[in-house]
Amino acid sequence: MEALKKVRTAVIGCGMISNIYIRNLKRMFAIIDLVAVCDRNPENAKRQAVAYGVPRVMTQEEIAADESIELVVNLTPAFVHYDVIKAMLLAGKHVWTEKVMTNTLEQGRELMRLAEEKGLYLGVAPDTVLGAGVQTAKAIIDSGMIGDITSCVVSINRNQSLNAETFRFLRGEGGALPHDVGIYYIAAMTALLGPVSEVQAFGAPAPVHEAQIFSANPVGESWQIPGNNLLVGSLKFASGALAMVHFNGNTIGAEKSVFTVYGTRGILSLGDPNTFNGYVRLSLPEAEEVELPMTHGFDGTPPTDQPDWVDLAYGHRGIGVAEMAWAIRQGRPNRCSKEFGFHALEILLGLDASAATGQRVPMTSTFEMRALPAGYYSTNGGSALRGDAERSLMA
Ligand SMILES: NC(=O)c1ccc[n+]([C@@H]2O[C@H](COP(=O)([O-])OP(=O)(O)OC[C@H]3O[C@@H](n4cnc5c(N)ncnc54)[C@H](O)[C@@H]3O)[C@@H](O)[C@H]2O)c1
Repeated sequence: MEALKKVRTAVIGCGMISNIYIRNLKRMFAIIDLVAVCDRNPENAKRQAVAYGVPRVMTQEEIAADESIELVVNLTPAFVHYDVIKAMLLAGKHVWTEKVMTNTLEQGRELMRLAEEKGLYLGVAPDTVLGAGVQTAKAIIDSGMIGDITSCVVSINRNQSLNAETFRFLRGEGGALPHDVGIYYIAAMTALLGPVSEVQAFGAPAPVHEAQIFSANPVGESWQIPGNNLLVGSLKFASGALAMVHFNGNTIGAEKSVFTVYGTRGILSLGDPNTFNGYVRLSLPEAEEVELPMTHGFDGTPPTDQPDWVDLAYGHRGIGVAEMAWAIRQGRPNRCSKEFGFHALEILLGLDASAATGQRVPMTSTFEMRALPAGYYSTNGGSALRGDAERSLMA
């Protein structure tokens, strides 16, 4: 049998989210060979290389020049995405990028064109849509069990200004709740219900926030998160289904995630699409609501018996990278494709644009995403062994 040709991969951006990506890419997927890490601040890259046993620390230029590196995972802040993705595509690398794809639609279109021209893959987070919760819901919907989908309601709340006391990047562009967290709900809705044809919304800004946690912030420091920190809107899907979205960053931090899909024969409730293990509950007429077993792997269960908070908080992040690596080897489209990432961005920016103008905003883009095959799980032997879930990424 021909030996598996692993995809030599480098990570650019060694901040908070790199912890889960690097450790999962190192330990979880047979298809990935993580050979290098890179950061604008070399100390960050050195720290992560030592912590997770990555062989090399490289500059972005060294990665670009290294012909053996095929795939770059971009974990820089959103306002840097365009520059890093463009440079790596021009260097002939396939790129996976964290959300959101870019800051503007023009940048996104340019990068999609560039990837097409060069015959390169460009994959876009969030890969929570490939997790057990969303994929189980997808299997139920596709089975016809809840009939035709008529509508969907999603809601998430946080005190985003208070969170920005600790997570300083939330004070900048892209820090507002709809961009930081709402994008998970948009991505999950489209993964389940397909492309959107038009959107409309109302929005409200974040308040000016005065620092309250003085140990972390100078007394008197204040900031206002830019953009709409509260968005209430509607989506019309190409299928005819309608959805209501409520992303409120101007309230308290006790999160209440709502994700309900209404069909002609039943109703599904999903857990938080920002995680991999969100529950799936089914309501049918004349029956109690029941929680369904997961039909898929990648349910967020850490592949270690000594998980720390990074494992528990971030679960199986990185499966989108592995799925794309298999797609590269197999010459087929990847699921969290550039078209999928761009469509989610267009919905998000369309909601902002509608809130600003009072007009409905038609979508110009579309995408296709095949469901992952069911029946493959992350663990076996009473969770003692790694399971066969990676095989579901090969199909
Ligand atoms: N923190 C989270 O909980 C979280 C969760 C999901 C997704 N994300 C996404 O992951 C990405 C990174 O987020 P984070 O929280 O890790 O940010 P972070 O600020 O903790 O880390 C970003 C890192 O990128 C480096 N960097 C910045 N510009 C660079 C450049 N031009 N070249 C190389 N390195 C550069 C910084 O030095 C820093 O080490 C963002 O797109 C964010 O939306 C974050």
